[in-house]
Formats: sequence, C-alpha cells, structure tokens
Amino acid sequence: MPAAPVVPPSMQAICFTEPGGPEVLHLEALQVPQPGRGEVLVRVMAAGVNRPDLMQRKGLYPPPPGACPRLGLEVAGEVVACGLPQEGTPMPALGSRVCALTNGGGYAQYCLVPAGQCLPWPTGFSAEQAAALPETYFTVWSNLFMPTLPAKGARVLVHGGASGIGTTAIQLVKAFGGQAFATAGTPEKCALCEELGATAINYRTEDFLTRIRELTHDQGVNIILDMIGGAYFNRNLKSLTMDGKLVIIALQGGAKAEQADLARIMTRRLTVTGSSLRPRDSANKARIAHELHEHVWPLLDKGSIKPLIHAVFPLARTDAAHAALEEGNHTGKIVLSVSAD
Ligand SMILES: NC(=O)c1ccc[n+]([C@@H]2O[C@H](COP(=O)([O-])OP(=O)(O)OC[C@H]3O[C@@H](n4cnc5c(N)ncnc54)[C@H](OP(=O)(O)O)[C@@H]3O)[C@@H](O)[C@H]2O)c1
Repeated sequence: MPAAPVVPPSMQAICFTEPGGPEVLHLEALQVPQPGRGEVLVRVMAAGVNRPDLMQRKGLYPPPPGACPRLGLEVAGEVVACGLPQEGTPMPALGSRVCALTNGGGYAQYCLVPAGQCLPWPTGFSAEQAAALPETYFTVWSNLFMPTLPAKGARVLVHGGASGIGTTAIQLVKAFGGQAFATAGTPEKCALCEELGATAINYRTEDFLTRIRELTHDQGVNIILDMIGGAYFNRNLKSLTMDGKLVIIALQGGAKAEQADLARIMTRRLTVTGSSLRPRDSANKARIAHELHEHVWPLLDKGSIKPLIHAVFPLARTDAAHAALEEGNHTGKIVLSVSAD
C-alpha cells in the first residue's frame, strides 16, 4: 500500500483583513485544516481566479454563513487526507488528483472541500487547466442545462462571450447542438467568440438587440445567459423568442431594471430567472458535479472542449492576478499556480 501523504502543520494562504484594492491581499502562515465528515483535504497545485473573488475582496460579496471566509472558489490538486465518509457521497481516493468547487479558501497550499464537489482531472490536463474548470462549468451547466438540456438547435445569446463564463458557455452550447451568439467589447474578443463557434456582436459599436433581430430574421433567441442585469433587461426581453428564457447570473449593469416591460413577459410567455452558485448547499453542488461528470467530462477527456487560460500567476502574486482580471483585457481564465514550498 502506498504511504499516506505527509501533511505539514502549517501552510501559506492568501488573506486580507480590510476590504480594498488588490494590494490588501497578502500571504499568511495558517494551520492546515483537518477534514470533517464528508470532506477531503486537497494539496492545492493551482487555483482559479474569478470575478466573485474581486467582489468579495472589495467587501461587496460576503461569503455565505458557514463558508470559509478566505478567497478562492476552485482548485486542482491532490487529495492528501479524507474525513469520515458521509452516506451516499463517494470519497475520492487518497492520492488522487481532483479539481473541486470549494466553499472558499482555495488561494492556499491546502484547502478543505466537500467530497461531492470534487471531479477528476480530465485526461492530459495540467493543474492550471483543471483549476480553470469548476466555477465556470458548475455555473454554466446549472444555469443553462439544468433541469433540462436546451432543445437541439436552440439559439442562445451569451453576454460577455470572451469571459471565463462566456468561453465555457459558448463551447457547451455548441457541443450540445445549439446555436451561439455572444457579445464582447473589442474586435479581438469578438474574434475569439467566433473562433469558438459563436456569432459575435461588439456591444460597444453595435446594438445587440438590433443585431439579434437581424441575425435571427426577427425570431429572437431561445435563451440568454446574462451577466449585465438592469442595463440590459428590456433589450434582453426584446431579444427573446416566444417562450424564451432570460437567466441572470450577475449584475454588472445594475440590480434594478428601470421601467421593466412586464407586458412583454406575459404576452410572450417569457421566463426570467437566475441563480448564484456559492450559496447552494453541498448536496445541490454535488448534483451539478454528478451531471458534469456524466455529460461534460467525456468531452473534456476527448479534447473537444477546453478551458481557455489567459495568464498564470504564482500564489504570492495574487494581487497582480486580481489587478489583471480587474483591468478586463483578459480572455478566458486567470489562474494561480501553487507550489508546496
Ligand atoms: N451567478 C453565479 O453563480 C456566478 C458564478 C460565477 C461568475 N458569475 C458572474 O459571471 C460574470 C463572468 O464571470 P468571470 O469570472 O468569467 O468574469 P470575467 O472574465 O471578468 O468576465 C466579465 C465579462 O463581462 C463582460 N461585460 C462587461 N460589461 C458588458 C456589457 N455591457 N455587455 C456585454 N458584456 C459585458 C466583459 O466583456 P468585455 O471584456 O468584452 O467588455 C467580460 O468578458 C461575472 O459578472 C461574475 O460575477 C456568476
């Protein structure tokens, strides 16, 4: 039997005491946590950086009750300790390589994760590629593909098509037989969306509603994955076909919709919904992981879809990684590499 991995008593982790800019982030020595029932301890080799992390750092997105208050929502690494098993949740094997949606605390050398939120590294993946998966794949799958897959040929508009979420959504829509449209803010970002198979709309130079009407011969799209909120609300409703669905996952353009056109929702039988990943309970996240493993991991194993990585920063330069994401010139994901020493 292979020897159990040696776990040191302390670790380096990114912390902040006051909300603020990227400069508030610093490394601190902390005790390595012990896994509780149903949890595993992961030696982190890479961690993904996400926009919700920036909002938490600024004090605008407090962690849900009971969650680790430190930053980092996704990791890839090696399972080095397992807590007592929880009925109905298989434990990943000691020594196995997993990528995991965390409940916080991923910007560290070690991180606790509920076992049901772990997935294996897809074939041939590096730690950085594996760490770039969980947050966007859990978000896109749960919002666009649950409870039922969109019909074959469904027209889906993805706002922010060149983002981590957007590049994932375009690839999944295409992989499951849909037609993707995407907004992005520069010609380069539009070109990337086109490369991934979407029809791109530069939202800074074109009105997306006008373009969607032209591109769909006035029929509109079936589903919109929206990260803008208030500023796009009425134009989103007008971009939808009869029985269409608007899914709101972020509010970069405001949380209030002025003069919302409720009549359009009624007369066109529209559905307006949305969700936030982090506050879901572990059982809910485990259900998403289970579906991803069944439907999406085979596509990643085959290489027919893949995460797009813009840049990798060492854990000690998490401040620079946050600054880069904040600047907004990236396409796809920004990832931290984490070494054991
Ligand atoms: N609800 C959830 O569970 C959940 C989970 C994860 C992430 N999110 C949210 O999803 C969004 C994307 O996350 P991420 O980590 O992938 O962040 P990201 O890479 O920084 O993406 C932000 C994107 O927003 C786009 N954008 C900004 N203003 C726009 C506008 N007016 N029209 C169209 N696009 C616009 C940007 O496009 P340009 O650069 O082309 O301007 C950029 O691609 C974030 O808002 C995040 O908070 C939600």
